[in-house]
Amino acid sequence: MRVLVTGGAGFIGSALVRYLVQELGYDVLTVDKLTYAGNLASLTLVADSPNHRFVKADICDAAAMAAAFAEFRPDRVMHLAAESHVDRSITGAAEFIQTNVLGTFTLLEASRAYWMTLTPPQQTAFRFLHVSTDEVYGSLGAEGLFAETTPYDPSSPYSASKAASDHLAKAWQRTYGLPVVVSNCSNNYGPYHFPEKLIPLTILNALEGKSLPVYGRGDNIRDWLHVDDHARALDLIAARGRPGETYNVGGRNERRNIDVVLSICAILDDLRPDAAPRSDLIAFVEDRPGHDARYAIDATRLETELGWRASYTFDSGIEQTIRWYLDNDWWWTPLRARHAGERLGLLEKTATAALEGESH
Ligand SMILES: NC(=O)c1ccc[n+]([C@@H]2O[C@H](COP(=O)([O-])OP(=O)(O)OC[C@H]3O[C@@H](n4cnc5c(N)ncnc54)[C@H](O)[C@@H]3O)[C@@H](O)[C@H]2O)c1
Repeated sequence: MRVLVTGGAGFIGSALVRYLVQELGYDVLTVDKLTYAGNLASLTLVADSPNHRFVKADICDAAAMAAAFAEFRPDRVMHLAAESHVDRSITGAAEFIQTNVLGTFTLLEASRAYWMTLTPPQQTAFRFLHVSTDEVYGSLGAEGLFAETTPYDPSSPYSASKAASDHLAKAWQRTYGLPVVVSNCSNNYGPYHFPEKLIPLTILNALEGKSLPVYGRGDNIRDWLHVDDHARALDLIAARGRPGETYNVGGRNERRNIDVVLSICAILDDLRPDAAPRSDLIAFVEDRPGHDARYAIDATRLETELGWRASYTFDSGIEQTIRWYLDNDWWWTPLRARHAGERLGLLEKTATAALEGESH
């Protein structure tokens, strides 16, 4: 099995590559531009594997993509390369449109051109897995779950760009017959997570005695999934998912953000006792504009059709993750030196005032 993984130096991509190379023994080509979020250190465990290769390339570069397909001749594409941080998309959306929309278009076209050269049985067996997010569905109220049939209603530039790319991927299946499958997953956490996102930022700030920013009152609810459970789901969907279908991925682990932060504080207090409880460091800060209230996934299709089950509960997964950060400062120390975790995604006061003026 030959798998081309885009975004394989990122958080989820690197977990997937480690799983495919080390546990399944597949031949993997990782294609990644190495943006600020891409990190070859996350691929250290497979760096010397004979069945893994890395190419530094931008998915927007049509010639580079064509060359990667021609040389590697994949049986599957697993597409994870993206700009992924909502706050960054609010501060500057251009990269999100470029990579997530135009980059996906370029990759679909490169895949299609290569797929057309395959024999009919190879064409039938080929898969393009487009990896996406539950944020395309918008925000839930107190009740209900996102199903595969939930209408798209994205709120942020990030989720809008992912929604656009999902539509492109589906259209390439319907129009050209390219065997595309789409997965929409809830929030991931786990080892090798870039420390701008809530969970790694909270762990590292708490370890260093820094303030723990919580947006608004911390009431927003996310449905957390351990990244290794996501990686297993992605392989199953690529192997057995039906072309043209969507598979939702989620661990049935809804938590309010404030409860996530309190759990991390309690576990760290236990593992690395400090003079004062870490929860004293919590600081409620201005909310994210357009902050979705609640996400929750109905993963019934994935569970019944493909037999997937999450192996971690939130409690077991968060403890494993915290222990990983305690044991692996070699990985995060250089990132902390380069990225101080400054706040992004707040509208400038003047722009906010103008928007408020318009809406009255
Ligand atoms: N993190 C989550 O909770 C979550 C949940 C559901 C879905 N997703 C989706 O999963 C995918 C991976 O997310 P992640 O959290 O690992 O993201 P990440 O930001 O950690 O990694 C993204 C990777 O893509 C690479 N990349 C960015 N632009 C590129 C380009 N133009 N060409 C080639 N490579 C490029 C980066 O260098 C990086 O290695 C994304 O498509 C994201 O939308 C993420």
